[in-house]
Amino acid sequence: MPKHSSLSQRGQTAQNTVLRIDFEVFFEAMHNWYHPEDNPGGAITLNIAENRLSWHLLRDKMQQISREHDIPDWVASYTSAMGAPEFREALAGFMGRFLTGCPIDPEQLGLSAGATATIEVSSWILGDPGDVAVFPAPCYPVYKQDIGNKGGLERYDLVTHHELSDIQNGPVLDIPHLEEALRDIQAQGKRFRMLVLTSPDNPTGGVYSKDKLEAIADWCIEGEIHLVVNEIYGLSLINTEHPELVADYSKNTPYTSFAQLMQEKESEYLHLWYAMSKDMGASGFRVGVVYSFNYPFLEAFNNLNAPHMVSNHTQWLFQQVLGDHDFMEKYIQHNQAALTESYLVVIRSLRKLQIPYAPARGSLFVWLDLSEYLSEQSQEAENKFWMDVYKKTGILLTPGEGFGHSKRGQFRLVYSCVTKEELEVAMERLEEYLL
Ligand SMILES: Cc1ncc(COP(=O)(O)O)c(C=O)c1O
Repeated sequence: MPKHSSLSQRGQTAQNTVLRIDFEVFFEAMHNWYHPEDNPGGAITLNIAENRLSWHLLRDKMQQISREHDIPDWVASYTSAMGAPEFREALAGFMGRFLTGCPIDPEQLGLSAGATATIEVSSWILGDPGDVAVFPAPCYPVYKQDIGNKGGLERYDLVTHHELSDIQNGPVLDIPHLEEALRDIQAQGKRFRMLVLTSPDNPTGGVYSKDKLEAIADWCIEGEIHLVVNEIYGLSLINTEHPELVADYSKNTPYTSFAQLMQEKESEYLHLWYAMSKDMGASGFRVGVVYSFNYPFLEAFNNLNAPHMVSNHTQWLFQQVLGDHDFMEKYIQHNQAALTESYLVVIRSLRKLQIPYAPARGSLFVWLDLSEYLSEQSQEAENKFWMDVYKKTGILLTPGEGFGHSKRGQFRLVYSCVTKEELEVAMERLEEYLL
């Protein structure tokens, strides 16, 4: 750090803390992108959680809306910091019909610019600096910054298993794990303030059953701990009955939205996050949502959210898209079929190579165990292997570092951020490298 800085202490910390360790390589790879004729040896990045498989449908729909509708006057003006009432109404209708399976009151929704902003504002309101938010490991690495950068909450990685074989049927988080984390956090003189679950999960693709969610929710309510379930991948579901996949799922754990339990409990300690980024493949539009029965929380959100509001034009556009339920039905069907097809491309290769993976029920990922290829069980060996894969194959996986798990050699592969054809090339190269 330089001796003199014109920045604040926190500004200097920000200056010296990278958002993601794989970003630099990612941008380098983007300049050398694969093309079957022009650049057949080019890079194929499988590290960013994006879904490009259905964008053509959404793009056509948005272009049609822009052609056929005048932009309403309210779009040019300020609107509620919770989100435009017109959009929240359409969003509530969409969520109730397609995501939650129970009616959603638009007054209980707050919108920010993407899930990132929603998580940041929510954490700021629910916790104080130094409070602890618990995440079952492995978890989405950027949660650390989302809860910490502004809100000052600390991330606690709760390791519930070491081997991938333990999570073949989904997450194994249970009350004894939470009790132990609570004791540990209290012993450090800190407060266990928030538990965050991601369902379907990033990176494992597992989902929490309704019974499990209920037991955890009751434990949190009793202990006055906020429980937030992030359902950002709620409609990105794999067809677990596909003949080539069905054998991977011995236990039937259908995805159930947490909203149903929230409505049964009506507790101020239960909340849900959602966004347009993954299920709609629209991360660039920046639309995130929080749903809560905590009315003081919603008031605070309204008072704090002005810097994070979603553009009215985006709200208007999505109001039209989500309000067309026939379109949404077709979109979701197409998207889930495309996700399943691409997921299969990866699974076929992994089976051939006998590489352990966590069978996913949803999300855009395969969480795989390449530990047997490491020279030793260390972070250094893991990073070295990750870079070697990239250098020799052009394939960029998400490095395991940052997911907070105990076992080295596990990586996340995103199968939806490239076309199926590009993914096939990537898996062929990976097979060649690993064989
Ligand atoms: C679990 C989870 N939450 C939040 C985000 C951030 O989403 P957004 O682009 O809407 O900010 C991601 C993106 O990868 C994610 O996987």
